[in-house]
Amino acid sequence: MSSVYEQLKGNLRTNPKTWLVTGCAGFIGSNLLEQLLKLDQVVVGLDNFATGKQRNLDEVQSLVSNEQWAQFRFIEGDIRDIATCQQACDRVDYVLHQAALGSVPRSIADPVASTTSNVKGTLNMLVAARDAKVKRFVYASSSSVYGDHPALPKVEENIGRQLSPYAVTKYVCELYADQFARHYGLETIGLRYFNVFGPRQDPEGPYAAVIPKWVAAMIAGEQVFINGTGETSRDFCYVANVVQMNLLAATCVNPDAVNQVYNVALNDRTSLNELFELLRSRLVGEFSYLREYKPVYRDFRAGDVMHSQADVGKAVRMIGYWPTHSIKDGLDEALEWYKGNANA
Ligand SMILES: NC(=O)c1ccc[n+]([C@@H]2O[C@H](COP(=O)([O-])OP(=O)(O)OC[C@H]3O[C@@H](n4cnc5c(N)ncnc54)[C@H](O)[C@@H]3O)[C@@H](O)[C@H]2O)c1
Repeated sequence: MSSVYEQLKGNLRTNPKTWLVTGCAGFIGSNLLEQLLKLDQVVVGLDNFATGKQRNLDEVQSLVSNEQWAQFRFIEGDIRDIATCQQACDRVDYVLHQAALGSVPRSIADPVASTTSNVKGTLNMLVAARDAKVKRFVYASSSSVYGDHPALPKVEENIGRQLSPYAVTKYVCELYADQFARHYGLETIGLRYFNVFGPRQDPEGPYAAVIPKWVAAMIAGEQVFINGTGETSRDFCYVANVVQMNLLAATCVNPDAVNQVYNVALNDRTSLNELFELLRSRLVGEFSYLREYKPVYRDFRAGDVMHSQADVGKAVRMIGYWPTHSIKDGLDEALEWYKGNANA
């Protein structure tokens, strides 16, 4: 257990702050919202429901008290609009900027849409956060920034050439955040999330992430497709670890830790074949047809990297990050949610 994190949660409870969570109706944003409200914080949320869902906000409401929910103010709006960003940043202490169009294949299909939301949207948010004099701007970057750099595990300073428009947008956000630190003194921290999973991650649509998509397919008795041989590997990271890192990054007092980017994952690697087995073995007790169930292999997907694994030493040293959930812990914790929401 991260004692730094436990201490922070205690401090926040006694001395609540005002937080802006962009993308609060999405997967990670709604998990941040839930944790912040449970810590009695004041939260402003901004989302345009591009991929986020009202039902995620409803679920958070059902998980917190009425008093905690009353501390939440939602703005339905778009980060591509600077006035909306300015309204959202007004009197905010910390910004946790999650809003973006995710997904590598989405960005290959429509690079303009991904670039406008992710780059212009983030630039608008940086301007608004600077003008509102927020204490710190924490933003979601991505492991995709590492591109074709072959080293494993990934360390923050060694990046290659990005393999998709999505990865380019995330890298450009890092470059802009650096400019805002350099020229305007805005304190920023970028978080390179690796493959995050957990409750409220959308199982549906062509751009769904692998874990919710596979669980939904297994529960429905449909085929699971593996792109490539299944030896592709990822550092799957449970969302509770990501929430921890956001709160630590926003509040850490180490001046050397600021205006940096950090990997957020476990320094662990799970192949898709192993992931398939982790999920199948957890579901087979209830869905007996999974006993003989096999994945269907098809072509490797353009823009994907073969292996991904994070060195999280920098986050541990500089921020006090100490992940609480392994992939197995996360799957066990999220399983009931997956079962209840497979057809959401
Ligand atoms: N989930 C992962 O594994 C992962 C990995 C690396 C990086 N990230 C990054 O983390 C962040 C959150 O991702 P997520 O998995 O929760 O995705 P998500 O799609 O569930 O959430 C993104 C939210 O942003 C909102 N949004 C998108 N464009 C917007 C706009 N123009 N204005 C206002 N709101 C907008 C969406 O409606 C959605 O609610 C994103 O920046 C994503 O790129 C996620």
